[in-house]
Amino acid sequence: MTDRYCVFGNPIAHSKSPMIHAAFAEQTGEDIDYTAMEAPLDDFAGAWRRFIAAGGRGANVTVPFKEQAFTLCDTLSERARRAGAVNTLVVGGDGHTHGDTTDGVGLVRDLEHHGVDLTGARILVLGAGGAVRGVLEPLLAAGPVSILVANRTGSKAEALAADFKALGVIQGGGFEAVTGPFDLVVNGTSASLSGDLPPLPDDLFAEGATAYDMMYGAEPTVFLRWAGGLGALPIDGLGMLVEQAAESFLLWRGKRPLTAAVRERLRRVLQTK
Ligand code: ATR
Repeated sequence: MTDRYCVFGNPIAHSKSPMIHAAFAEQTGEDIDYTAMEAPLDDFAGAWRRFIAAGGRGANVTVPFKEQAFTLCDTLSERARRAGAVNTLVVGGDGHTHGDTTDGVGLVRDLEHHGVDLTGARILVLGAGGAVRGVLEPLLAAGPVSILVANRTGSKAEALAADFKALGVIQGGGFEAVTGPFDLVVNGTSASLSGDLPPLPDDLFAEGATAYDMMYGAEPTVFLRWAGGLGALPIDGLGMLVEQAAESFLLWRGKRPLTAAVRERLRRVLQTK
């Protein structure tokens, strides 16, 4: 029987994950069925139980269920425990639910693909919500000289940085505390959704710096337009989406798909809409 997988979200209709995983399955010759499933806002656990009962072997989890999914896992990877959220669920042989998060690895791998060297880099991360919490551990593991987490609500960034300080040089504060230059600035706020730009100084970017927005769309986000205008290399989150999916696929099927062609296809789909 074909193994079933899905992505849970609400809303979920526009998810690109089914297309990505269909491409991975074709490429690797794995016989899987991957669909988008809308879970009720107040009963993620019920939706997950029903999916397992119907033959589900694993799932991706997106907004707004990453924290709810975390709480129902029987076992968790170390990185998921630290992130406090999961984006990947795996059904074990004995039916137990294992949770992991592949978002952070996805970000770091996409940066590698773009030739961004994180060793010794001065990194600024904007935002202090779940999206940022999920990427700090792999960023710190990549060997930067320092990470500053800056957020509209500065106290949240301070608290978040404190949670990760055993892993490297990391500090948190409000936007007013930000002084450049940085080699990499990652926008992990949801400000791009509303077309807002966090209040940041113009001298933020070092020579040859990279600006990364974890959001993506047909058009560059306001943050990427601003950063590009200041000379930084702008990269959106489409590659991160594909890389986190590849890492989830590896957890489920034991095979790591190649990502470049899928990324290019997705970009074309996005731009022809
Ligand atoms: P997610 O899970 O996507 O990270 P979240 O936990 O709601 O979502 O966090 C959203 C992040 O975007 C927060 O860091 C938020 O800042 P506050 O903590 O001060 O609320 C940030 N954010 C949202 N809208 C913003 C805006 N217009 N300008 C700057 N930051 C914004």
